[in-house]
Amino acid sequence: MNNWKHNHILDLSTFSLDDYQTVLELTTRFKDVHKSSSRKLPALQGRLITNLFFEPSTRTRTSFELAAKRLSADVQNFSVSASSLSKGETPLDTILTYISMGADILIIRHESTNVPADLANYVDKNNINTSILNAGDGYHSHPSQGLLDLYTLATFFNPSEPSTNSLINKRITIVGDILHSRVARSNLWSLTACGADVTLCGPSSLLPNEFIDFVLNPPPGQKIDPINKRGSISIERSLKHALKNADAVMTLRLQKERMKQNMLTDLETYHETYGITHQSLKWCEKKVPVLHPGPVNRGIEISSQLVEDNSINLISKQVENGIPTRMALLYLLGLNKNN
Ligand code: CP
Repeated sequence: MNNWKHNHILDLSTFSLDDYQTVLELTTRFKDVHKSSSRKLPALQGRLITNLFFEPSTRTRTSFELAAKRLSADVQNFSVSASSLSKGETPLDTILTYISMGADILIIRHESTNVPADLANYVDKNNINTSILNAGDGYHSHPSQGLLDLYTLATFFNPSEPSTNSLINKRITIVGDILHSRVARSNLWSLTACGADVTLCGPSSLLPNEFIDFVLNPPPGQKIDPINKRGSISIERSLKHALKNADAVMTLRLQKERMKQNMLTDLETYHETYGITHQSLKWCEKKVPVLHPGPVNRGIEISSQLVEDNSINLISKQVENGIPTRMALLYLLGLNKNN
């Protein structure tokens, strides 16, 4: 924990193996806090955590809220519909209002890529001691989702001691709308950092060939990749081939809200070709777990029957693990707010 250097959490491209391990260990430590007699820890008592979601959310917003409360922080929740945005106030002025109220950690979701990073630059330049935590920006990044997925997979492969080592040489297949997915991008950074080999599967309209090079170069503005040797990324257009050797499968929703035009007209054909179902899972050489970050569109990327079969899907585990994972992130950002 002494090595924790991030004042903001914007993108997993900047995470070292130590950072991932710190988050995994803390998540394990926080997993059972709600079972204790007090159901809380005093770690962030008196700190102010602000949830600023400019896009809809069910899981992320409420689990950040619960995570903050389990660490005894004060929490503010912003709602677009109840805010002064309708009176013409700009999103920037809205954000600055919450910063002026003394937010120690500002959790932000926005449809535009880089809003969290721009905000982090702003607070740093103005010596404001507010940490920015990206809860999803456009199709760029969703770090807390990437980390809770990592924890869920590490726990599946190594229930007694989930760690970055639990993913080495594991073959993870991610299926669906990769192009518009911030979840896929965050998972590509985290899974390859921990030595997993990722197979991406989808039609070329939703999975351009360029994704094969996704982790080869750090994003603009980042000088180095903190990971010495990453797992591989490959692209497979056939679901049958992509599932054959998989150790785990993640399926993703078609993110229609981020598509420039209607890129898929026939959802039935999409389901037949790329849907994860009990039938398509027969192509796997063994029984494998299925992850989905939610929200799920039943009958499109995953069958309704599979959503209800928690002997195979880890969907409720992902939601469950989201709380201690987000507690870990808030705790780490809160470490430097003790003055
Ligand atoms: N996975 C995820 O980000 O879900 P929400 O949009 O409900 O927060």
